[in-house]
Amino acid sequence: MVTAYDAPTARIADRAGADIILVGDSVANVVLGYDDTLAVTVDVMIHHTAAVTRTKPDALVVGDMPWLSYHSSTEETVRNAGRFIQEGGAGAVKLEGGRKRLPMIDAVLAAEIPVMGHLGLTPQSVHTMGGYRVQGREAYAAYELISDANALTDAGVFSIVLEGVPDVVAEIVTKEIPVPTIGIGAGVSCDGQVLVFHDVTGLGAGEYLPKFVKQYAQLADDAVAALEEFFADVESGAFPSDAETYHMPAKSEEILRNLSDPSDHLMADEAMER
Ligand code: KIV
Repeated sequence: MVTAYDAPTARIADRAGADIILVGDSVANVVLGYDDTLAVTVDVMIHHTAAVTRTKPDALVVGDMPWLSYHSSTEETVRNAGRFIQEGGAGAVKLEGGRKRLPMIDAVLAAEIPVMGHLGLTPQSVHTMGGYRVQGREAYAAYELISDANALTDAGVFSIVLEGVPDVVAEIVTKEIPVPTIGIGAGVSCDGQVLVFHDVTGLGAGEYLPKFVKQYAQLADDAVAALEEFFADVESGAFPSDAETYHMPAKSEEILRNLSDPSDHLMADEAMER
């Protein structure tokens, strides 16, 4: 699984063979310049989800429900989840949290919308976690997380993202639950892995990279080099060359050049009439 936020990133992810494209609320920091994910709304998420699904990818598209879109009531949660399907074209939604989110998860599932869970370091809880910290480091906290995973699975989620947890915790969850775990900073034992598009490809242009990221390309550096070359070509006159230029038929060009001679407008009018 990889994130994508717009048509080009979705096309690239799909061409590369992603099984799942997650339109993550990480769009907030990765694309929209916010410091965390809390600023994005359902409208913003649907705008990006629809851009991804308009490319008709083979991958399953999962829309990430933003903070406060599934926290106040089951009715509001279903309405918001339904917008991801109806307006965003997603095939499923993801929401963060454990047992305390069960009433919302039950309601969304009852509306026939598949749900992906998300446990561990859940970025929407940044303030209650006191920062972006690895979760489940102590035995009791880990046990609670494993219980959450079991409860979510019993409720009917089709997969769970495990983010920022020790590898042994992810290993136990993966062994215990019958649905696939998808890890991000959760070690090698998960059934699948997810990374943010801009992190994997190096498109993040100087963004901080967490320890769990492996960067497979430096697209931002390539883009800077391409733009530098473009600017230099413009300054030297090498761009645009004949290959990038439109031309007029020779006859029309001749008439036009005569027309644009201000001393001879009368003749030009006659030439046009002819
Ligand atoms: O929003 C996101 O990108 C995510 C993944 C990192 C799992 O939730």
